[in-house]
Amino acid sequence: MSAPLIELDGVRRVYDTGRVQVAALDRIDLQVASGDFLAVVGPSGSGKSTLMHILGCLDRPTTGRYRLGGVDIADFDDDGLAEVRSRTIGFVFQDYSLLPGTSALENVAAPLLYQGVPRKERLARATAVLERLGLGDRLDHEPTELSGGQQQRVGIARALVTNPALILADEPTGNLDSASGAEVIQLMQGLNRSGRTIIMITHDAEVAQGATRQVHLRDGRIVA
Ligand SMILES: Nc1ncnc2c1ncn2[C@@H]1O[C@H](COP(=O)(O)OP(=O)(O)OP(=O)(O)O)[C@@H](O)[C@H]1O
Ligand SMILES: [Mg+2]
Repeated sequence: MSAPLIELDGVRRVYDTGRVQVAALDRIDLQVASGDFLAVVGPSGSGKSTLMHILGCLDRPTTGRYRLGGVDIADFDDDGLAEVRSRTIGFVFQDYSLLPGTSALENVAAPLLYQGVPRKERLARATAVLERLGLGDRLDHEPTELSGGQQQRVGIARALVTNPALILADEPTGNLDSASGAEVIQLMQGLNRSGRTIIMITHDAEVAQGATRQVHLRDGRIVA
C-alpha cells in the first residue's frame, strides 16, 4: 500500500505571545489518504484554522511531525515549503480572496504565474477550468460583477488550475446562502469523485455531511 498523502503524528502547536501560552493543537494524529474528502468540524476556537495553516504549510508544528506525500516538511526551509505549497496544494477561502478589479480569467490564471507558465498557456488553462465549472460566460467579469456563489466557483477554479494533489478549503460556504453553499459542496463532491483529495474546514454539521469522512476537534484535540 502506498503512504497516505497526509500524516500527522503527535502534532502540537503552541502560540506563545509572551503574555499567554495557548496549545491550539495538542497530540493530533491524523492520516488522510489520496482520494479522501475529509471535513474537519469543531466549535470556534477549537483549532480548525491552526490545523489548516499547518496542513497548508503556512505554519509548522511546535512539536510532532507532518509528512506530506511521504516527505517530512521539517526537511524544508521556508522557501522550500513555499514551493511545496505552490505545487501540491490549492486553497479555497471563506471570503474567496479574489484580486479586486481583476477578471475571473486573470484571477484563475494568477497561480500559474508563480510557476513560470507562459501567458498563453496560463490563459488557456484558466479558461478550461472556468468552463468546466460552468463559468465560461463570465471570464471577463470582475469579482464585484459576480454573485457570491460564482465568486466561490472562481475561487475553486483558481485552486484547481495548478492541478494540485490536495484542495484545502477553510469554511468555503461560510459566506454563502444555503442554496449556493449546497452548490459549492456538490461541486467539491464531483471533484472528489474524479479523484481529488479535499480537506474542508467547517463549523456547520450539515455542510460536513457532504464529505465522506469527518474528524471533530475540541480544545485542540481530535475527539471523534
Ligand atoms: N496568533 C495567536 N496567538 C495566540 N493565540 C492564538 C493565535 N491564533 C489562535 N490562537 C488561539 O488558538 C486557539 C485555536 O484558534 P483557531 O483560530 O485555530 O480556532 P478555530 O477553530 O479556527 O476558530 P473559528 O471557528 O472561530 O475560526 C484559540 O483558543 C485561539 O484563541
Ligand atoms: Mg478559524
